[in-house]
Amino acid sequence: MTTTLDASAAIRRANEISTVALGALPSPLEEASRLRAALGTGARVFVKRDDAIPFGFGGNKVRKLAVVAAQALADGADTLITVGGVQSNHARATAATAAKLGLRCHLIANGTRPEKLTGNALLDSLLGAEVEYVAARTDRVPAMKRAAERIRAAGGNPVEVPLGASTPFGAIGFVRAVGELLEQGVRPDVIVHATSSGGTQAGLTAGCALHGLPTRVIGVSADDPAADVEHQVRSIIDGMKGPLGSVMEAVARDARIEVDDTFVGGGYGVPTPASIEAQQLAARTEALFVDHTYTAKALAALVQYVRDGRIPSNVTVVFWHTGGQVGLFA
Ligand SMILES: Cc1ncc(COP(=O)(O)O)c(C=O)c1O
Repeated sequence: MTTTLDASAAIRRANEISTVALGALPSPLEEASRLRAALGTGARVFVKRDDAIPFGFGGNKVRKLAVVAAQALADGADTLITVGGVQSNHARATAATAAKLGLRCHLIANGTRPEKLTGNALLDSLLGAEVEYVAARTDRVPAMKRAAERIRAAGGNPVEVPLGASTPFGAIGFVRAVGELLEQGVRPDVIVHATSSGGTQAGLTAGCALHGLPTRVIGVSADDPAADVEHQVRSIIDGMKGPLGSVMEAVARDARIEVDDTFVGGGYGVPTPASIEAQQLAARTEALFVDHTYTAKALAALVQYVRDGRIPSNVTVVFWHTGGQVGLFA
């Protein structure tokens, strides 16, 4: 059972957890009236602009890394190691965090070194990260372990940051973000956002539950099947019991975790007709930029939900913009 007392204690612990100051928070919350008009809905549509977090081209990873990097510093780390694709937003945000904190950064990227560095790969290089390329996704974690061993053997102190910084601690960044949204005066009926490694959804879902909000948090998958993402989100929430208290076990058990994997289309990063429409709509109504890997597919889902009545006219919806705009220049 989730008692109000346990929930407020968990919120207090989340708010008191150590963070490094990276982004200028709160991120803006904007009402998207022209998008709403274009969709012909009575629903109020807001956009939570984590894409506009100024640090290192922003995005959802900044919230997670602010917590994860504080722990790394407390552990005496001198190097952050992480994994991702060649154009990973998470890898770029980790490289930016390391640069800002005076740490070294080692990235394991699956793929081949592009002949011309663009987008996030260009930023990784400017940020001074060392990039090691591996052939496949499955090679990434073993390569991260080997890199950590090499750095340790040379006298360094590396911290391995899992994919997407989607650890229970990282996700606490998004528990805090729900409080930030409430302070901006909006209590959404629905939040729609892009989901992949699950940390954003875990934090938002847990944050809404702890604040006693009936909000539906709908994660729109960028790649994996809904059941896999749901399992991951639930286990991240359960893992928050260490830092936030045993109430998180009940939250993990009882939370409704909604993942929609029907917008992936041809695969990770492959545009769909719906994501192309959503990308143009966002730009032409609100001067908002969404990318085909994550945020355009999430926005395409929101558009579809409005059109088919799953988001009815009498509700307030927040599109949580998780960033990814650098991908437009890849
Ligand atoms: C722009 C963007 N949106 C959403 C996501 C998904 O967030 P999470 O990994 O927390 O599920 C990512 C990360 O992979 C991302 O880069």
